[in-house]
Amino acid sequence: MHPARHTYHDKSVFQDELSRLFNRRLFIGATQDFASLDCYRSFQLGRHALTSRATPEGVRTFSNVCLHRNSLIDPPGSGQRPFRCSYHGWSYHADGSLKHAPYAEIACLHHRRLSSFPIAEAGQLHFAGINGITPLVDEVPELLQKVGVGIDTAFHQSELAHECNWKLLVENVLEGYHLNFIHENSLIPAGLHSATPAEIGYRSYTSWCLARPEASPIMTGLKHLPGARHQYLHGYIFPNVLVANTNNLVGYLGELQPLSADRTLLRWRLLELPALRALPENMREYIRQEAVASCEKVLQEDKHVVESCQRGLESEGTPPQLQPCEERIMHFHQIYAEMMKQTES
Ligand code: FES
Ligand SMILES: [Fe+2]
Repeated sequence: MHPARHTYHDKSVFQDELSRLFNRRLFIGATQDFASLDCYRSFQLGRHALTSRATPEGVRTFSNVCLHRNSLIDPPGSGQRPFRCSYHGWSYHADGSLKHAPYAEIACLHHRRLSSFPIAEAGQLHFAGINGITPLVDEVPELLQKVGVGIDTAFHQSELAHECNWKLLVENVLEGYHLNFIHENSLIPAGLHSATPAEIGYRSYTSWCLARPEASPIMTGLKHLPGARHQYLHGYIFPNVLVANTNNLVGYLGELQPLSADRTLLRWRLLELPALRALPENMREYIRQEAVASCEKVLQEDKHVVESCQRGLESEGTPPQLQPCEERIMHFHQIYAEMMKQTES
């Protein structure tokens, strides 16, 4: 059931994953990313250069390749700018059709509309179907509700490049087995450990883990904060979206952007949950700062081991042996195997 070792570094498998997995439900951003007109997020998915934009008709995803001489229309990343190529100023309407091509002879233009892709939204998360089919998002609201995360305005956003295959980053967050060994100075003092009791659940393309430690010194502090609860709740939306709730105070939204078979960019943000917003400002600020520092530390600790796994998988070795406590990874592998088998549509 475990994907073969070569699937973690083989270039053709990577291309297959883009077209069979990522093309079907590609996370393009949260509602907050498209809060005002002309906000955009653009990125590269294999040979697809894409841009998602806030248009007067809602959020839309287009090919980001200009119809004139194929410059990227929106620069990589995110921001707010008119839907206009900066090379010779060709601009586009909300439906991707050409609006204005200065000094051009319109009669000789064969292509006048950018390709666009269907979009679905659930719980303020937007996904595109790069295969031309509206992505399934029906499980997303239940997942967010289980994890107790509303996708509101972020108080911190950052990104972290990893020299490893995207699957290693997914697997890393789907088990708590490694906590005692990797997060000795971060999550262990925060009251979580390798054997913290947790409720685990699955649907067809989502899974969750609700860890609520029974006793821990940190509970004493949290008791004084109304609405706070000592817990770590984690959710996963296949293939590349991660959400978490720490102590009912801080939310996390992460997305994995696969750059190549052995490079992945994690873009992450932290959100204030309602119980945190209800606290006095000085306390909110303290908790926000602590959350950023702790998240950065944990991500660095994990980066080290996933990159180490990548080097191991690229070397001669024996197949990985998953343990019963890694059952969420098995579920991930099951979805992966099923979707990789399906004919590309
Ligand atoms: S390449 Fe875009 S306007 Fe010329
Ligand atoms: Fe970790």
